[in-house]
Amino acid sequence: MIKYNALINGIGTSVKTKKYYDEWSKDYDKVLNQWNYHAPKSSSKILKKFLNKNPNEILDLACGTGLFGKELKKIYPKSSIDGADISTKSLSHAKLKKVYKRLFVSDFNKNFIFKKKYNLITCIGSLTYNNNPQKLLLKVSNITKKSGFFIFSHRVDLWQKQNFDKILSDLSNKWQNIFISRKLLYLPKNKDFNNKIKIKIGLLKKI
Ligand SMILES: C[S@@+](CC[C@H](N)C(=O)[O-])C[C@H]1O[C@@H](n2cnc3c(N)ncnc32)[C@H](O)[C@@H]1O
Repeated sequence: MIKYNALINGIGTSVKTKKYYDEWSKDYDKVLNQWNYHAPKSSSKILKKFLNKNPNEILDLACGTGLFGKELKKIYPKSSIDGADISTKSLSHAKLKKVYKRLFVSDFNKNFIFKKKYNLITCIGSLTYNNNPQKLLLKVSNITKKSGFFIFSHRVDLWQKQNFDKILSDLSNKWQNIFISRKLLYLPKNKDFNNKIKIKIGLLKKI
């Protein structure tokens, strides 16, 4: 039985998080739909507005069961999309969606295993589990092609706690800030999150 109230405070170690998402994977899409999770659709609207050219190569970091991959395929049908996640069972569900070219088991808190550079990297609904956002932004920058993009969502409470504005300004030699959304509801129909926890969606361009 999945304890959903663990989500608001974080699940714990990478091992625990993997186990949690493995167990949740078969019902994840249904439950997120019930909670009115809109970050994938809102993020794809932002991409459509600022990045209307098909990016050749996309990496969906912490792709889970592929909810965002599905949206990416709708707006960029010709792109080659890879996905990565720590949860192997979520990746098997992602595979069934037939939107990803390659799927990697990968922990984004460790060194990246990716061998090539991408035109667009995405990380939606997952930064909560990252233990060092500055390091992650640097690692993502290393595998993003010049003038490529990174789109992410991040909880506003963690944004403030981590002083995320300063992290972005410290990395202004790597990333140009293209768009930061207003505060948006995250999981409006989840009783722990409802109108208390909000997110912002950011789009950065590699310098
Ligand atoms: C809320 S889900 C979001 C999944 C997908 N991006 C979406 O929008 O539906 C968070 C995802 O982060 C993944 N995750 C958590 N910790 C991770 C880590 N250390 N490395 C890679 N993925 C991780 C989980 O397995 C889960 O699939």
